[in-house]
This record gives sequence, structure tokens and C-alpha cells, in this order.
Amino acid sequence: MVQYNDDLKQEIRNANDIVDVISQYVILKRSGRNFMGLCPFHKEKSPSFSVSPDRQYYHCFGCGKGGDVYNFIMEIERLSFRESLEFLAERGHIQLPEVNDEEFSKKQYMIDRMNKINLETAMFYHERLYMPLAKIAQDYVKTRKLDNHTLQAFKIGYSGEYNELYTFLKGKGFQDHEILATGLVNQNDRGEFIDRFRKRLMFPIISVSGKPVAFGGRRLEDNDKIAKYINSNENLVYSKKKHLFALNLAKQSEEKRIILVEGYMDAISLYQRGIDNVVASLGTALTEEQGRLLRKYSQQVIFSYDSDGAGQNAIKRGIEVLEKQNCDARVLQMEGAKDPDEFIIKYGSGRFKLLVDNAISLVEFKIKMLKDGYNLDNAKDKIAFLKKITDVLSSVENKIEREIYIDKIAEQYGISKQAIYAEVNKALYKGKAETMLVKPTAKIENSKVGEVDSVIRKRENMVLYLLINYPKETKEMIQSNISADDLKIEENKLIFEKIMALEEKDSEKITQQIANLEDEKIQEHISEIMVTDYEITSVEKCVQDVILIYNKERLQNRKLQIVKELENPNLEKGQMKELEMELSDIIVKMAKIK
Ligand code: UTP
Ligand code: MN
Repeated sequence: MVQYNDDLKQEIRNANDIVDVISQYVILKRSGRNFMGLCPFHKEKSPSFSVSPDRQYYHCFGCGKGGDVYNFIMEIERLSFRESLEFLAERGHIQLPEVNDEEFSKKQYMIDRMNKINLETAMFYHERLYMPLAKIAQDYVKTRKLDNHTLQAFKIGYSGEYNELYTFLKGKGFQDHEILATGLVNQNDRGEFIDRFRKRLMFPIISVSGKPVAFGGRRLEDNDKIAKYINSNENLVYSKKKHLFALNLAKQSEEKRIILVEGYMDAISLYQRGIDNVVASLGTALTEEQGRLLRKYSQQVIFSYDSDGAGQNAIKRGIEVLEKQNCDARVLQMEGAKDPDEFIIKYGSGRFKLLVDNAISLVEFKIKMLKDGYNLDNAKDKIAFLKKITDVLSSVENKIEREIYIDKIAEQYGISKQAIYAEVNKALYKGKAETMLVKPTAKIENSKVGEVDSVIRKRENMVLYLLINYPKETKEMIQSNISADDLKIEENKLIFEKIMALEEKDSEKITQQIANLEDEKIQEHISEIMVTDYEITSVEKCVQDVILIYNKERLQNRKLQIVKELENPNLEKGQMKELEMELSDIIVKMAKIK
């Protein structure tokens, strides 16, 4: 297990500035002392995601997510704490101390061996492609018009027969269980070792960090009876949903956008013709993890899937994954070829680039998909189509954007602009009218609850803010006037207790200590405090004010309690007198406060 303590945690945190880290996932703009951007954890149109370079915290005022750089990496990369520690250590070039957990080091060792096997295998296949025995593969490569530079860039290869790979790997000193773990070789019922990929054209799938982690093998003969491609199974070093073919090359491209294709051959073919910002999702639906990878390396993703129905349907699903992550996703429209490989061979890269530049937005794509079911020469169909697109158009929040679409669509489909406006406005008005009718009562109730909550929250945040930022000036005062029980929000109570328990009176040290509280909910509260700029002019006055509020509240509560107790008919005379005295005492005190 990686040995880590709070010092190491802090060292790694220092090596990874939160603004730098988050900038790799979110476009951030300076706003006062903080940076703002669109939250990567929920869908939003205007930025409520705030990052504080001073406090090294982020917080989203929309969805409430927040924390330090570890929380961010855990959330966005879906890693455990330990994994995010390793991730950030690597990013910050910090050597982690030796591991001494047997289980863990066994696993690390296995991963290391599998990586070595995959690397040896990629070279084995690649070199084999140039041997005389690979004539069938060499001929095939020619028919697919792949040049030598491309074969080398993608380390394309040719797999052997029977157990040639197995024999080769054994010769390199790898053990049976290590080889089997990669899935490159299988063992049959009779105990014989047989290569998984035989006599196929081999495409290694290379990770972003440049390691071959899996393979795809294409059949060479024109025989529908055998699978066109077979691929590596998932294993310790390969998870299909986390990789994209050719991303290792595309990430080096100067282009800020990435073209997303379906197949190995599409990516390879475009790359050879000068389009180096291309990756392939390999025929599966785009996963969230892949979406995040794309988002990390590009600002815009252009879907260029096969033009058949399956491809177009896959776009619809994929584009939604990207939209959720606030990624600008577009769709390339291609005619006269079934896939990008065929298109670029037929029409050249200049024409393909034109298609890239003219890729359409999600709204236009949705409308185009709807159009397929209708014949617009037919009046009835036209009306039905108009009704259908109204939903899509009225969901566009930005008015100017909506108008641009309406203009485009009117022209493209020969529908009168006025007719579209009429429908869209009707839908928009209907939506508004409904909110006006139904919501008011609900809204008032909500805001009442919300207001009380938000007053308490603000007040508690202020107490914690003072304790974290001005411990020297405020800790003693607060300690003798406010207790954890006075705080209403559970997480705030815990943070309060934690700070009170610390000997520390140094703001920076306190910040570090509470950052080490490994609870997501707690971090969400801390982060809100950390990114809020309270603009305090006098700390002294501020702490006095908060304490006063708590004192007042305590008196008020006691007052109500006494009034209630006094209503008790069984109260003894002595008790009654005592209570009455306390009550008048409270009233005097409260009057003084006011
Ligand atoms: P395609 O059939 O479009 O493949 O499938 P392609 O890459 O364009 O290959 P060519 O041009 O026919 O040689 C798209 C992707 O789906 C996966 C592969 O990753 C392929 O690149 N696939 C397809 C399989 O895994 N197995 C199959 O049998 C077919
Ligand atoms: Mn193809």
C-alpha cells in the first residue's frame, strides 16, 4: 500500500496548483480574486463554478460540489482517494514512498509484467509485418493504401499462427500466468496454449501515456463467416470504456478540436492524409470516461461516424454524453461515402476538411434526424414536422441562438419563418404560463424554508470563515461564546469541533488540517466557505457581531422556554419565582443588546 501521511498529502497538494489542474478540464476566467467557469459536474449555461487560487479550493454554487484538488480529481476522474493521490503525485513529479503491502505490490508487479508483454507483443507483430511470410498482410495493406510511415506511426502488425506469440513470449522469460492474464494467449481444454490473434492485421491500442494496452485484429480474407475484427478482452491494464484509439497521436496535434470516428481504419486513413486530430471510439457507444478524456484534450468534438443508421443513432447517444460535460459537440455530414476512410480516399483531404468546418450543431442534427420521417412536399407532413421541431427549438435557451436556428431551418426546409416563430412562441408562452400558474405557492413555501436555511448557513459559514482565516484574533472569543451545539448544520458542527480541538493558531496550518477531513459532504461545506470572499474590513467588529447574534438567539430561546414552563399549572411557587426572575433578567439583557 502506498504509505502516505498528511505531510505527503500536503506536499502533493502544493505541487498541483488547483487552478492549473482544473484548467485542464474547465475553461476558467478570472473574476475578482477567484476564477469562474461552467461546472463540469452538472449541466449549466452560466458559470457558478468558482475556484480560489488563494485557498486552493473549488466550489459550485449550482450543485454544491466542492473541495480541494484531491476531491476534484476523485470526482472528475472517478478515482478513489488513493488513486487520486497517485495521479497527482505523478502530475506533480513527486516520488511516492516505497510500497510495503504485499497484496498491493503483487498487483503492481503484475501490471508491470503485463505492460511489458503488451509492448513486446506490439513489436513482435509489427516486425513480423515486414517479413516475407507476411505477404498476405503486405498485399492487404496495399489495397487499403496504407503507406509505410502510417504503418510505423500506428505500429501496425501481423499476427502469427498457432502459438507463435506464446513461444516468443516464453523465450523472453514471461510466465504462463502472466501471459494468460493479458488475454493474448488462451489455454484450451487439452492444456495447449493458443494465440488469440492469428493471421490478422494487428492494431495496437496505445494509452495516452504511450503504452500498448490492447489489440484489435482485422481478418485479411474476404470471408463474412469469420469475425471482421477481434479485440482484446478487458483485463488489469485495459478497460475498454477508458480508452480511445489514436488519442496518443491526436493529443499531439496542434488542432484544438478532435474528430471522432468509429473504426480503426477511419482514424488511420485520415491520419495518413494529414488529419492528425482524429480518434476512434471503436464501434462502441461513447462512455462518460471517454467523454471526459476528449474534453481534457480538446474544446470541440466533431462526430464523424459511419453514414448508416447505426452510426447516426450512435451519434445521438454520444453527443448527449458530451453535452452533459459542457463540451461543444458537432456532427459532420457526409454524403457519397459510407465512412470517413472511403470519403477521404475518394474525395481527398481538402474536401474532408470542408466537411469538418461545416459540421452542424446538436440542435441542427436533431432536426435533421426528425426530418427523415417526413416528406416535406406533403402539407400534412410539413405541419407534423413543424410541430416536432418546435420542442427542439424552444429548448434553446438563448434567444439569439434560437433566432439563428430558425432562420437557417426556414431556409433549409422551405418553411415560413413566421410559422416557426408562431409555434415556438406558443410553446414558450405555454411553458411560462404554466410556471406562473402552478409555481407561485410552491415558490413562496420553498423560499421561506430556503431563507431560514440560508440565513443560518451564512451565519455559520461566517463563524467558520473567521476561525479558519483569523484564528489568532477570533478563536478564544468564539470558544467562550459559541459552542458546537449552537450550530445547526451537522457538517459545520464537525468542522467547528475539529478546529477547536486543534492547538494550532496559524491560518495556513488550520486550512491544511481541515482539508485532510476525508468526507465529501464536509468538503462541500468547507469549499463554499473557502471560495466566498467576505470582504471583512474589521475582524474584531465582525466577530463581535456574530457572537452577539448567537447570544441573542440563546436568550430568545431561553425566554420562550421559560414562558412555556410558566404555563405549567403544577409549578411550585418557589420555582415560579425563580423563573420569573430569570425572565426579567433576560428581558433586561436583550434590551441592552438592542
Ligand atoms: P467498421 O466495420 O466500420 O470497421 O467497424 P472499420 O474500422 O471501418 O474497418 P474496415 O474499413 O471495414 O476495415 C467500426 C469498428 O467497430 C469495431 C472495430 O473497432 C471497428 O474499427 N468492430 C467492427 C469490431 O470490434 N468487430 C467487428 O466485427 C466489427
Ligand atoms: Mn471502414
